[in-house]
Amino acid sequence: MKPFRAISWSPGKRALRFVDQRELPARELVRDVTSIDDVIDAIRTLAIRGAPAIGVAAAIGLTVAVRRTARGDVRKLRELLPWYGTQLIAARPTAVNLSWAIKRMLVRATTAADDVLLQSLCDEADNILAEDIASCAAIGANGAPLIHEGASILTHCNAGALATAGIGTALAPIYIAHERGIRLKVYACETRPLRQGARLTAWELSRAGIEVTVLPDSAAASLLRDGAIDMVIVGADRIVRNGDVANKIGTYPLALAAHAHHVPFYVAAPISTFDRATPVGASVTIEHRSAKELGRLPRDVYVWNPAFDITPRRFVTSYITDVGVKASTMSSFAKFRATI
Ligand code: MRU
Repeated sequence: MKPFRAISWSPGKRALRFVDQRELPARELVRDVTSIDDVIDAIRTLAIRGAPAIGVAAAIGLTVAVRRTARGDVRKLRELLPWYGTQLIAARPTAVNLSWAIKRMLVRATTAADDVLLQSLCDEADNILAEDIASCAAIGANGAPLIHEGASILTHCNAGALATAGIGTALAPIYIAHERGIRLKVYACETRPLRQGARLTAWELSRAGIEVTVLPDSAAASLLRDGAIDMVIVGADRIVRNGDVANKIGTYPLALAAHAHHVPFYVAAPISTFDRATPVGASVTIEHRSAKELGRLPRDVYVWNPAFDITPRRFVTSYITDVGVKASTMSSFAKFRATI
């Protein structure tokens, strides 16, 4: 069950193909890009967004861009790879999937002989794409049993099919439960300032025939207090060694409100989002974005526009992963972390 492909190759593997998310919900525009500047621009401007999607896009984008620039010159191709990789990683610093995918591509290149280098890069990008599709399906299968008949689920930002190559992370259990005939409804936080919830989550869920209600971010705590929500499910850009979660700005206040009102708070993410190298949430580089995203403001005011926040592990009920649902208690999380 995959209503559309947010990220793929173009036929012949000459270009990175994606649904341009800047245009949604007004129009479904599919774009092909082949140059490193266009791939970086698409990631930076959120035409392609969501942690797993930018990882897959970087792998395919790196391959098509080095092929285009090197034009069969293997030495040049080897020189370009780390340089393009560094630029791609800098495009969005918070989601670990981006650097994870680039590192995999570079390791693959170092072990490939010259005559099969390009083919090896294509194969590795294919692996990353296929693994993401499979991870999403596994997250969906593992998380769906948590959703009971008639459940009301609150989510934030967009962690759906648009944010991955597959059926999403936070939305995957919802898609699978819906497919199994479980009656459910979703509340989607608007997600200021770029409105990923209102524009993207609402678009893809209503397209799939799932009831969705959009609310301003500032209304979420009241909805939780009123007992209207059975569970919160969000995605993640990075889950660090102590279990803290970096995700779209507004996730932390949602977790606080869910905790205060005794509503389970789930974080859905593939293993590629777990970052064992970063010790605590405070060490994560949080991307800050342009003041322009906040719209028209009086002159001479300062703007603070972080794209992500950190939710401490203690506010997470469980992590819904591709290898199972993992409890967030310190000892359970430490045991799980040792296996990945
Ligand atoms: O800035 P965005 O839209 O890329 O932020 C996306 C999120 O925060 C998602 O929740 C996260 O990347 C997980 S997507 C499966």
